[in-house]
Amino acid sequence: MATTYLDHAATTPPRPEARAALSMWLDAANASSPHAPGQRARMAIEEARETVADALRCSPHEVVFTSGGTEADNLAVKGIVWAARDRGATDPHLVTTAVEHAAVLEPARWLADRGDVDLTVVAPGPDGRVAPEDVLAAVRDDTVLVSVMAANNELGAINDLTAIAPTLQERGVALHSDAVQAFATLPIDVPAWGVDAMALSAHKFGGPQGVGIAVLRRGLAIDPLAHGGGQDRGVRSGTFAAGLIAACGAAARAAADDRGSLATRLRALSDRLAAGVAGIDGVHRDGPVEAADRLASHVHLSIDGIASDGLILALDDAEVAASPGSACGSGAAKPSHVLSAVGIAGTPLRLSLGWTSTEEDVDRAIDVLTDVIPRLRSGAGAPTLSFAPLTDQSRSDA
Ligand SMILES: Cc1ncc(COP(=O)(O)O)c(C=O)c1O
Repeated sequence: MATTYLDHAATTPPRPEARAALSMWLDAANASSPHAPGQRARMAIEEARETVADALRCSPHEVVFTSGGTEADNLAVKGIVWAARDRGATDPHLVTTAVEHAAVLEPARWLADRGDVDLTVVAPGPDGRVAPEDVLAAVRDDTVLVSVMAANNELGAINDLTAIAPTLQERGVALHSDAVQAFATLPIDVPAWGVDAMALSAHKFGGPQGVGIAVLRRGLAIDPLAHGGGQDRGVRSGTFAAGLIAACGAAARAAADDRGSLATRLRALSDRLAAGVAGIDGVHRDGPVEAADRLASHVHLSIDGIASDGLILALDDAEVAASPGSACGSGAAKPSHVLSAVGIAGTPLRLSLGWTSTEEDVDRAIDVLTDVIPRLRSGAGAPTLSFAPLTDQSRSDA
């Protein structure tokens, strides 16, 4: 039986266009070399840059390729704070939210721990969204950066950046947004959203793993993370990964072309999934109530009266791939910081849909959950651990 894959928020399969571009440019010459093969590789990279810029409605000059969302987030958070310090901010202040991905929260805490920044972490509402007024209330005269994610990876909760951007602009505070989860189904418009920096990751929209995008507004003061050959305007040194970048561009084009219809299709599928599990005793849907406030791709459930480990094993046994929504560094489940921040107590389960998802996937997940949850609760039929799962933080914090 083929696996029913409902973990697209962790990574979504590469689109055919991305596979073709990757294999076409895998053995590209060094794109900084002056010879013809190098210049051909360079053209492929610049074409990908234009495609990505088109999809985000920004300028190609504002697109920097990174190794993924984590690097793009780190670049924005550390780079903007460090640049502010370089320009004389002696005790800069950073505002972010408790529901950010670790790729934002960890560098923010690291900067604060070493005394580079004073940090304020804004709490979300119970649906996982952050109130714009709470973010703005946290801004001070010495704030140099606000980082608010476009959409949350666990709950799919969408934040209204346009409600905070104008005030930040007036006050001269940079706005960064982690839009890693948003690209596949939300139309992104960098100028209209009013962000100065944005992080994206290709493997969340049908590109390969290991390549991402940092959007950096022209004129934004930012220090690089790595120093070296000075590629990409000196912000991101290192030989261009031509194959990955070309594939990222191809995926961005395919995803942007398909975005509207995909969102409509996934909205119908996620509604079907949520309705199908709503009748199971002790199963609650989390996140925003209004469809417009959550990604079309995400269904987050919390389930009463069962253990997370048993659920993961039972789903594995039934060949349903989903995310338990808890991080387990040593095999012991610990609650995710996002779910703790919003106060969700039951056993979490994130089911996330993507471009390959079908009605059959959804119906099979409903059948499996309808069967497995009461069985686990009654203690009957809980599968035993026949292998040691590879557990690390990244397994679910995706
Ligand atoms: C919201 C969010 N930000 C950042 C990341 C990190 O992206 P990457 O896996 O490309 O480093 C992820 C992926 O797990 C994510 O979901």
